[in-house]
Amino acid sequence: MIITLCGGGSTFTPGIVKSIALRKDELDVDEIRLYDINEERQRKIGVLVDWILHEDLGLDIKLTVTTDKKTAFTDASFVFAQMRVGGYAMREQDEKIPLRHGCVGQETCGCGGLAYGMRTIFPMVELIDDVEKYAKKDYWILNYSNPAAIVSEGCRVLRPNARIINICDMPIAIIDVVCAALDIDKKDVEYDYFGLNHFGWFTSIRHKGEEVLPQLREYIKEHEILLPDSYLKGMSSLMSKKPEETTDEHPEQNRHTKGSWYYVWKGEYEIMECFPEYLPNTYLNYYLQQKEFVEHSNPERTRANEVEETREKNLFDGIDHYEKTGEIDESTFYAGSHGDWIADLAIALKNDTKQRFLVICENKGAIPNMPYDAMVELPAYIGKNGPEVISRDNIPLFQQGLMMQQLNSEKLIVEACIEGSYEKALQAFTLNKTVPSMTVAKEVLDEMIEANKDYWPELK
Ligand code: NAD
Ligand code: G6P
Ligand code: MN
Repeated sequence: MIITLCGGGSTFTPGIVKSIALRKDELDVDEIRLYDINEERQRKIGVLVDWILHEDLGLDIKLTVTTDKKTAFTDASFVFAQMRVGGYAMREQDEKIPLRHGCVGQETCGCGGLAYGMRTIFPMVELIDDVEKYAKKDYWILNYSNPAAIVSEGCRVLRPNARIINICDMPIAIIDVVCAALDIDKKDVEYDYFGLNHFGWFTSIRHKGEEVLPQLREYIKEHEILLPDSYLKGMSSLMSKKPEETTDEHPEQNRHTKGSWYYVWKGEYEIMECFPEYLPNTYLNYYLQQKEFVEHSNPERTRANEVEETREKNLFDGIDHYEKTGEIDESTFYAGSHGDWIADLAIALKNDTKQRFLVICENKGAIPNMPYDAMVELPAYIGKNGPEVISRDNIPLFQQGLMMQQLNSEKLIVEACIEGSYEKALQAFTLNKTVPSMTVAKEVLDEMIEANKDYWPELK
């Protein structure tokens, strides 16, 4: 059984490979392949992955590191996708251009997310075509590549029969934090959730069958943030620190509680003070507190810079150090729920376990008062034929209204990309809740067209 990681040079690759390797019996994996378009980045990550598989864990899983599609995908059963089209350099543009115009600048939300979406739709379609050509007929692509909402809509429209499941690690990271706050074990927790990707709400969180949302509301009210003290200790400054300098007790789970991530955990308290019924996804902060986000942001220094100076730098410095000295510092690569989530999903598909996961899927009536063809995020039972989505009742007007605005903004950017339409792109930007006016939308869009000229289709 072959698993290929597309975007094999990603900072998340070592962690994901470790999660796969630790589940090798359930996955019955013989070979892991890393595929990337950036040869040098891929080579370096390959060195670390080789160490993880063969020296650290002593496994006999074959490793292939390649930039050739045929070598990468031939007879693969699973492709885990995590491409960042344009790299951190373009993430910086996605974050900084909107901020310069007084709008939220974020990797996957608002104008930044729309821009990233326009870069990623066609490379993801190309990936699907390559996998269709070379991989096993019953392949699965499990996709983390962002912006997952727009990517999933683009793939639905352009390749409706592709065997692809789009996923996100944020809800599970929130559950990690909730479990730490309430001191409960994640394995005993089940939850209900609805939304779009990076735009949803937990409506129930149950521990051993008992509802814990009331307790959680009290916790958040008392602490004025959704972060346990043990996590907060590691956040003494707003910048992420080198792993060896952190004092927190949960380093392996803690990527989401570093640097500027602080504000969205604080935002969980602020949103719950106004709307206490459901626990919001952290990403709703960018839509409900857009003005405040702009006020505490620095357009010269955004999350992309934090990541470049910490996660990316620590990882690649660590690999250079290993190549020079043969010593490895395991804390330089992240392992944890991000890798576990995608590897566990593959197990459910392969072994037909019908385990429950949150996935991004076509609505098809599961939320009755959302469009049939909306790509929504809902719990589903996962078996060998894919997700069996759990349908639910109508959602309340407030959430439905917010979701419709965001959904139509995302659908319009997909149409703009496919048709090469400037007007639809401008509609997508104007409709987005993070943008205050049509004129601002146009200013941001025009600057983004210039910045993305190597990546976007031409807009007429
Ligand atoms: P990264 O830049 O370190 O890694 C991405 C890799 O993708 C790079 O090595 C790059 O060369 C490669 N790449 C770019 N275009 C490609 C293409 N067309 N084909 C193959 N490879 C290509 O970025 P990262 O921070 O490790 O994140 C990787 C991806 O995972 C991003 O899209 C990020 O947004 C996403 N992500 C998603 C979730 C989620 O919840 N869905 C969580 C974490 C990260
Ligand atoms: C969460 C989201 C991802 C996003 C990531 C960014 O995990 O679910 O979709 O890519 O955060 O994290 P970063 O550390 O790169 O800012
Ligand atoms: Mn996500």
